[in-house]
Order: sequence, then structure tokens, then C-alpha cells
Amino acid sequence: MAESIYGVYEENLIKIKENLEKRFEEYQQVIYKKTGDKAFEHMAVRIKSNESMREKCTRKGLPQTAESALSKIKDAIGFRIICPFVEDVFAIVEYIRSFDDSEIIAEKDYIRHAKPNGYRSYHIILAVHTDYPDVLGNEQGIYYAEFQIRTIAMDTWAALEHKLKYKKNIPNEALLVAELKKVADELASCDLSLQTIRELIEQA
Ligand code: GTP
Ligand code: MG
Repeated sequence: MAESIYGVYEENLIKIKENLEKRFEEYQQVIYKKTGDKAFEHMAVRIKSNESMREKCTRKGLPQTAESALSKIKDAIGFRIICPFVEDVFAIVEYIRSFDDSEIIAEKDYIRHAKPNGYRSYHIILAVHTDYPDVLGNEQGIYYAEFQIRTIAMDTWAALEHKLKYKKNIPNEALLVAELKKVADELASCDLSLQTIRELIEQA
């Protein structure tokens, strides 16, 4: 196996990932104590594997170096946060916005503006200012993390659609793509209804 593309920065990357992860675990507890509801259903966190990161560098026309992996590409750390309700997704976004050691450098609201295939999710690229040196030679380095925040329904759809992408020679592919788009819109409508029902229950 090729050596780690993250080089000497890999241990910093792990610590930064863990630090971010801890914030969300604490946030979950705080919200639960306050409201009796979870802020999110679950989260999945990963550092992009060496093989995937090398493949991505090549795909983007970048050399396979730590500099590409940690400063040009910004999803070495990846969070997927899955929420029961749409409103919870936007609350998580605002929570991320409140971090004083970080700034959101890119965000894509694929919930209000779904992709043509029906994909819905809120994406954020976060720049985290740390006390660890970075690959560009800064003593107080910047590391990046990508967040994908979405509802359980959106996540179920994304997992299914992702599978489709890696299958070849699917019969009736056009029909399947159209069916997926239809289901995405139906799920979005269900998410809105669920949100409304929750509000009605809360008001009662
Ligand atoms: P990168 O090349 O990964 O930087 O993609 P991008 O800059 O176009 O970013 P975008 O925010 O659109 O997508 C980032 C990630 O979101 C992807 O790697 C996927 O994990 C997920 N994603 C985006 N679009 C889709 C989609 O249509 N279907 C599914 N299943 N996942 C998607
Ligand atoms: Mg990306």
C-alpha cells in the first residue's frame, strides 16, 4: 500500500476530527437536556482513505501530495449528520456557523435548491483555525472539513442513488432515474408534512 498522502499531518487531522466530533456529541446532550429531543439522529465521521484521496487528487488534475490533500481538496475530514426533521438540519447549520474558531468558506443549500436528479442535502466546507501546524507552513494551521447535513428520508434516497452510480449496464436506466427523481420529490413532501405535524404536536 502507498504511504499516507497526509504525511506527518495525519495525526493532527485525526485530532481535529475528534475535536469537532466532540462538539456535536456535547451539542446533542445540551439540546436533549433542554428540549427532550435529539438535535440529530446520528452522525458518521470519516477521514478520507489514502486510496480515495489519491484517486481524487488525480481526478482533479492535482499531484498526489499532502498539500493537495489538505489545502486544495477540502474534504479530508467528512461529517454526515442525519436529522429527523428538516428544521433540525437548519439548526445544525446555525450551530456550525456559531463556531468561533472556524469559518464557513462554502455552502450549498441543496434542500431549497435540489439538484436536478432530486438530491437534497445541506453542504458546508468549514475552515478550522487550529493550534497545529499545517501543510502550508502556518504554525496555527488551517484544516478543512466537509459537512453533509440532511434528513433521514434524504439520506435513504442518497444511499440508494449512490448505489445506482456504481452499477453499469442497468436496463431501463432512464426509467430508474425518473423514478428516483419522483421519489425524491415525494420524500421532500413527506418531510414537510412531518415537520408540520411536529409543530402541531408541540403547540398542543
Ligand atoms: P467534490 O468533487 O467532491 O468536491 O464535489 P463538489 O465540489 O461538486 O461538491 P458537492 O458539494 O456537490 O458534492 C460533495 C459530495 O456530496 C459528493 O462527494 C457526494 O458525497 C455528495 N453528493 C453530491 N451530489 C450527490 C448526488 O447527486 N447523489 C448522491 N448520492 N450524493 C451526492
Ligand atoms: Mg466536495
